[in-house]
Amino acid sequence: MQIIKTIELMQEVSEKWRMDGNIISFVPTMGFLHQGHIELLRVGREKGDRLIMSIFVNPTQFGPKEDYEKYPRDTGGDLNNARSAGVDAVFMPTVEEMYPEGFQSTVRLEEITQHLCGKSRPGHFAGVTIVVGKLFNITKPHLAIFGEKDYQQLIVIKQMVKDLNMGIEVIGVPTVREKDGLAMSSRNNYLSSEERASALSLKKGLDLARDMVAKGERNPAKIKNAVMELILNHPFTEIDYIALCNPEKLTDIKRVDRPCLLALAVRVGNTRLIDNVILREN
Ligand code: PAF
Repeated sequence: MQIIKTIELMQEVSEKWRMDGNIISFVPTMGFLHQGHIELLRVGREKGDRLIMSIFVNPTQFGPKEDYEKYPRDTGGDLNNARSAGVDAVFMPTVEEMYPEGFQSTVRLEEITQHLCGKSRPGHFAGVTIVVGKLFNITKPHLAIFGEKDYQQLIVIKQMVKDLNMGIEVIGVPTVREKDGLAMSSRNNYLSSEERASALSLKKGLDLARDMVAKGERNPAKIKNAVMELILNHPFTEIDYIALCNPEKLTDIKRVDRPCLLALAVRVGNTRLIDNVILREN
């Protein structure tokens, strides 16, 4: 497995792999890998001839009061996991390599970034799109693999790839959960054991909504209220948003009469967690 730190070398290696006729899969990460990432790597390995993973904690997608400085890091463990998952190259640049003095470009999506996390984390998606756009230009993949837990991120990237004619197939992979249902996330590491118990309220909320819809409830307000009540009955929880929306546009819906997205962002203590499910009528 090659460990590559410069943009120039990564581009050279990818270009050579392409010229040799390989399909390149790419899994971008911020490191501190968990089973969710391992699943993305598994899919990437299965679908491509060469698998590239990046590790880069991207400063431009964190707000000034967010957890950039304390974001968990474990390069040694990540490299071991990458090796076991059959990664061919890990791209791990420095911040200076990615954003040299004088850097000034942005990639901005106008609509789907205005909802959900885009509302509560202003500037977050501009940070995600610029870094992912750069990573795509550097690793030159045919396929890029993202988790469905970050549902909005997934559709923002799909839209960017379409709008900018990047010619990359973006693949979404279902959320991997702990045995008790908690969605895997590097940020779960911040939770105390009491907070960890309360964090289960997100999955319980999604399950409750699914049951309500299965039993015939079609009123978004009633579903959202029931989910809110369930979550707030758990200690340390504070709701950032509960949205029932159109899964492509992320705009609020008036009635659950077609597949819709239930997306949650909840603070548990100081940790902000997200989760989602697609609700269907049957
Ligand atoms: O999902 C993540 O870990 C990050 O947002 C990504 C896609 C690696 C961009 O920094």
